[in-house]
Amino acid sequence: MVKKNKKYFKGPVILFPLFNVRLNVALTFNVKPESETTFPAIVPPNQKNPISNTQPSTDTYAEWDTWETINALKDSLEQYHNVTLVEANEDAFNRFRELQPDIVFNIAEGAYGVSRETQIPAMLDMLQIPYTGSDALTLGICLDKARTKEILSYYGIQNAKFKVADNIDDIKNLSFDFPLMVKPVCEGSSKGIYSSSFVRNEHELYSEVNRITNEYNQSALIEEFLPGREFTIAILGNGSDTRILPIIEIVYDRYPEGIVPLYSYEAKWILDTKESEFDVFDCPANIDPVLEEKIKRIALDTYNILRCKDWSRVDVRLDKNGEPSVIEINPLPGIIPDPTENSSFPKAARVAGMTYEDMINSVLYAAAQRYSMVK
Ligand SMILES: Nc1ncnc2c1ncn2[C@@H]1O[C@H](COP(=O)(O)OP(=O)(O)O)[C@@H](O)[C@H]1O
Ligand SMILES: [Mg+2]
Repeated sequence: MVKKNKKYFKGPVILFPLFNVRLNVALTFNVKPESETTFPAIVPPNQKNPISNTQPSTDTYAEWDTWETINALKDSLEQYHNVTLVEANEDAFNRFRELQPDIVFNIAEGAYGVSRETQIPAMLDMLQIPYTGSDALTLGICLDKARTKEILSYYGIQNAKFKVADNIDDIKNLSFDFPLMVKPVCEGSSKGIYSSSFVRNEHELYSEVNRITNEYNQSALIEEFLPGREFTIAILGNGSDTRILPIIEIVYDRYPEGIVPLYSYEAKWILDTKESEFDVFDCPANIDPVLEEKIKRIALDTYNILRCKDWSRVDVRLDKNGEPSVIEINPLPGIIPDPTENSSFPKAARVAGMTYEDMINSVLYAAAQRYSMVK
């Protein structure tokens, strides 16, 4: 079973030990095309075919990063290291091969196919170049929420009852109780998750399964709806040095009236903008010690079972009995630097007393330690 980690409940963290070596770091990323960049405006083929339809969906690039994030990351790493930017495109392999960096800081979400997050780590493995974060196997599994749930279920980690559907026939005899959630099986950053993903009857279920399979060209993941409070848990480090940052709650009581209680695409990218304050996040979450312990335990077990490395963020929601259930794990968590944008990992790090620079260098330090580059 899962190895017990006695230190997991200790907090607040965290000042990472200072680097005693200056590393040559390559920072690899995918940048949102609407930001200032020469990156070609490609449409990832997991969505509409760019030849038959040149209009990407509104959420096509939601997983990718902006220059604001990439530059903040670069500045943070440059406090201690030499940094070269490597765009995670088709030239990346040759760039890494020429550069031979000591280590790669990887935030690349990739563009093509369900293995898109695994491509950079796989090529770095081939070149024997160390990198931050989880390996290709873990990234590939975690992008597929159904495969992740199958593994969690094997280890007895509670998660909502689910079914993967590719067409209407697959849901004809579904014996789940409404309401349900319907989402793309392999996406992140709330892509494909709108208020309509919360379905109350068979008609809505059919229409959502159609929407996901047509618009996102992938299977629909149907889950029983977890109606309780929602938390997200940022985790940093490896082995006995793993730390859980202060828990964030998305407080649905503070959602505008009539909005479905989901951390949906609308909530993440439309309701919550730099201009309009969206104050629904409590960190640290206001929870009793028993619940806190349960949430930390399930989050850390999930991290270990999926063999995550260096950092990740686990989404957890309470079921109808008030018990924590895992929604998903994000081994490449979003790290928007601007506090007004409510990016979860940096928010939890700030509450733990870390600056953005501390947070980024802690991830690098954890990776460098794994590869025995630092003590
Ligand atoms: N089974 C579920 N029950 C209740 N809410 C859910 C469920 N699945 C997803 N959600 C809601 O939708 C949000 C986004 O789902 P998630 O699977 O985390 O997608 P993403 O990868 O886009 O973050 C969650 O934060 C939660 O609010
Ligand atoms: Mg999520």
